[in-house]
Amino acid sequence: MKQPPLPGFVPPDKKIVNVASVKHRSPFRYPGGKTWLVPRIRQWLQSLPPNKRRIFIEPFAGGAIVGLTVAFEQLAEQVILIELDKQVAAVWQTIINTEDGEWLAQRIQSFEMTPENVEMLLAQKNTTLHERAFQTIVRNRINRGGILAPGAGKMKHGEAGKGLASRWYPNTLSRRILDIVSIRERLRFIQGNALEIIPQYAQEADAVFFIDPPYTAAGKNPGHRLYTHSELDHEHLFSLMAEVKGHFLMTYHDEQQVRNLAAKFRFETRTIAMKNTHHAEQTELLIARNFDWL
Ligand SMILES: C[S@@+](CC[C@H](N)C(=O)[O-])C[C@H]1O[C@@H](n2cnc3c(N)ncnc32)[C@H](O)[C@@H]1O
Repeated sequence: MKQPPLPGFVPPDKKIVNVASVKHRSPFRYPGGKTWLVPRIRQWLQSLPPNKRRIFIEPFAGGAIVGLTVAFEQLAEQVILIELDKQVAAVWQTIINTEDGEWLAQRIQSFEMTPENVEMLLAQKNTTLHERAFQTIVRNRINRGGILAPGAGKMKHGEAGKGLASRWYPNTLSRRILDIVSIRERLRFIQGNALEIIPQYAQEADAVFFIDPPYTAAGKNPGHRLYTHSELDHEHLFSLMAEVKGHFLMTYHDEQQVRNLAAKFRFETRTIAMKNTHHAEQTELLIARNFDWL
């Protein structure tokens, strides 16, 4: 017999599970990436008057698919991306905060993806910011699952036996970078700790926050092996969100500890269905002050 849906459960809709329908704007393939949530983010932001979403802040930016989409679709006037990881940050700094985005796009185009070239490139230490950005892009493409954390393994066979090059799409990657360069006046990138930067925007009633932290609130969780920075004081994060004047939306693994935190701070929760990279259906938890828009 078919089970009745859980209270607060949002069933998958075609738009959500079909990630191919969301234009991929990021040069990263990012573990825990939120491409699948983009249709809901549009729905959420469009439900807010424009003067309540002038600044969009993504404090755990990673591959930043959400923030980039918001900037491209002008769902906010300004998008602020924050990320602690120095490798990931090098890419965003190069593209958004410096004039070297075009250099990076060109470097990608001219690189010949062979095991020898990769080894030579990744052996370089103390490189410049833009060279570090390039190393990150290459590592993200050749590591299994795009994982950049220490200990991540390289793909051995890749797709169709193409080995290291199986996810190396130089034209696509450089075009994505040049597209971001073309709208970079709408973007700002800050390398730093989200927990220190969120309070700086807490009093801004026109700032909205999309919070997608590493899922490490309940101990044994994937976040630990996916990211270099996975330790986070989740309760502190919740307490900061309770102080912000603007709207926010958080995503988490659906764990009892997380639900307890949400209840403690009187936030509402919804479970939302998604398909993971292996196309298995699973649910994630959305947390906000209210879900009038859903
Ligand atoms: C779940 S991932 C974000 C994925 C992103 N939403 C996407 O779609 O690509 C979490 C990110 O938070 C970053 N991170 C961890 N601790 C952080 C901190 N204290 N401040 C800022 N970023 C942090 C990790 O490096 C990781 O990139």
